Amino acid sequence: MANIDSPLTSADFFQRQAQATADDQFRLRWSPRSMSGQALTLAQVQSLCEAGRWAPSCFNSQPWRFVFALPGTPQWQPFLDLLIDVNQIWAAKAGALVALVARTHFEANDAPAATHSFDAGSAWMSMALQAQHMGLAAHAMWGFHHDKASDVLKLPEYFTTQAMIAFGHPASAEALPDPLREREVPSPRKALDELMFNGDMS
Ligand SMILES: Cc1cc2nc3c(=O)[nH]c(=O)nc-3n(C[C@H](O)[C@H](O)[C@H](O)COP(=O)(O)O)c2cc1C
Repeated sequence: MANIDSPLTSADFFQRQAQATADDQFRLRWSPRSMSGQALTLAQVQSLCEAGRWAPSCFNSQPWRFVFALPGTPQWQPFLDLLIDVNQIWAAKAGALVALVARTHFEANDAPAATHSFDAGSAWMSMALQAQHMGLAAHAMWGFHHDKASDVLKLPEYFTTQAMIAFGHPASAEALPDPLREREVPSPRKALDELMFNGDMS
């Protein structure tokens, strides 16, 4: 397993059989909710953001920004309060919360940047794989109060939230309340032949 600190065994990945050859890091990445509550260090957060920084983007515009909060700091509770209740239940034990923010317009000319979300998604995936490499859990969330986020995060003009991400040290599924506990396993995927098309989709 790529995540050497994961409390899961290889049997937990039974729903994730490879259908072609690809690096195991992709199949073994998943989004746990059970985290220990131990704060990440600033250096760990920097490593995650460093991974995101090298993501590709349209015209190399790099529309992503990473606004973070660590447990035990004044920013933590306002970040946590942005999450919808069902996400707060488990994300309260994250070791860092990162708001992934993107600039909707190019810095060069303020023209609309149609790919800002696509680009920010690339950064998220880089951060998720870096987290896995560091033995950390990473879990993206759309379930937060987007309307309040711009105030809490003090977003400048043209910036919009794309996701909140919980990073943390993995913990046992037993630490989660029901019904989250039974959902704490890696999920399956559509079959490769449902996703691949040679030439057109007919
Ligand atoms: C943009 C985005 C938003 C998501 N929002 C939430 C969320 O609000 N709450 C949650 O528990 N999981 C959320 N997820 C996690 C997905 O449910 C999860 O990635 C998906 O089921 C696939 O599982 P895996 O990441 O474990 O492979 C989100 C994931 C993404 C990429």
